[in-house]
Amino acid sequence: MSGSLSSLYGGRGVAIVSGRGGRVYDRAGKEYIDFFNGHGASLFGHANPVLRGALDEAADGVWICGAGFESPVREELADILGGLVGGGRAFICNSGTEAMEAALKLAVTVKPDRHRILACRRAFHGRTCGALALTFNPKYKTPFKRLLSNVEHFNPDELPGLIDSDTIAVFIEPVQGEGGVYPLPPETGRAISEACRKNGALLVADEIQTGLGRCGAMLASGLVGLDPDIVCVAKGLAGGLPIGATVWRESLGDFPGHSHGSTYGGNEFTARVALSALKLTLKEDFPRYAETLGGELRSKLASLGGSAIKEIRGLGLLNGAEMDTPSTDVVRALQAKGLLALSAGPRVVRFLPSFASTSDDVSQAVEILGEVLESIKNGGVVK
Ligand SMILES: Cc1ncc(COP(=O)(O)O)c(C=O)c1O
Repeated sequence: MSGSLSSLYGGRGVAIVSGRGGRVYDRAGKEYIDFFNGHGASLFGHANPVLRGALDEAADGVWICGAGFESPVREELADILGGLVGGGRAFICNSGTEAMEAALKLAVTVKPDRHRILACRRAFHGRTCGALALTFNPKYKTPFKRLLSNVEHFNPDELPGLIDSDTIAVFIEPVQGEGGVYPLPPETGRAISEACRKNGALLVADEIQTGLGRCGAMLASGLVGLDPDIVCVAKGLAGGLPIGATVWRESLGDFPGHSHGSTYGGNEFTARVALSALKLTLKEDFPRYAETLGGELRSKLASLGGSAIKEIRGLGLLNGAEMDTPSTDVVRALQAKGLLALSAGPRVVRFLPSFASTSDDVSQAVEILGEVLESIKNGGVVK
């Protein structure tokens, strides 16, 4: 890895060169159970045959023609995405952070006379300047403070009492991912939704990590009491190709002409794969599978009794185990033993299995974690 990339991302010290289903392989041919999946973007695992078919078809067609042209593929994709909020509109872009930028611009367009934007402590919404303002962790924000607009951050349960007639919008993740894997309690979600409705404030759900089936429903919002006006999705939308989307209720109206746009957003190539991915999710009922497999993972993790795990949290296939050991040490040791996971803050190890992960993967992964925790307990070297 080049110097600049490794200082931005932290080197994992291994090159992953191929993958099939829920497993990946490094240059030396070593196999890993993949519960990392490109930060959750390989929602279907690796080399899914249906998505490979869509890729072939996409390669054979026009790759991009420009968003001003009619595109049956993009329109069908936008219709399915709009269906997520009960018949809405969609702006298609290239990443999660861009989906958040579009949501912010739409929100201030729809509520021009209001001033306040609310978000949550521990929130992560991306790294471009609008999304970064919504993100909480000062580690990401401090060097860029002078570029960021004012966003007020609170604990989720404080929000209902703070939403008022000057509030443009509340931005919230149904399950905080990067912040430590904290599912929103449904009673809090319902109270936030109600306070937004009562005060005419918009509710924006960041479903970039939680959405599209990962948490056991096409949108996790409904599982945690949120009734959003605007929803952002990305990550698994095209199974790992760069794409994001901002989806909103038709009743909000639209962006004023030429007030937003993207050269690559909604290009035919990526849109065809995304369309195929969404249809596959619905056909195979992957959300139900995610709910079942995630439950299995959490109950097996819980059975690692007497271990260093303090708490297990999660919904569907977005799970975290809070440790009394630095999570980076655990993640490194898991990788050495053939399990890819990631940190979610200093003490939480995050597991993001894909729809291709199996019960066997879950059993083996928990066994590996058990061995790692045992060796840490015995003062063994964490490799
Ligand atoms: C909840 C959430 N919002 C926003 C983002 C930013 O997405 P991207 O990295 O595609 O810009 C992420 C990425 O991890 C995320 O998890």
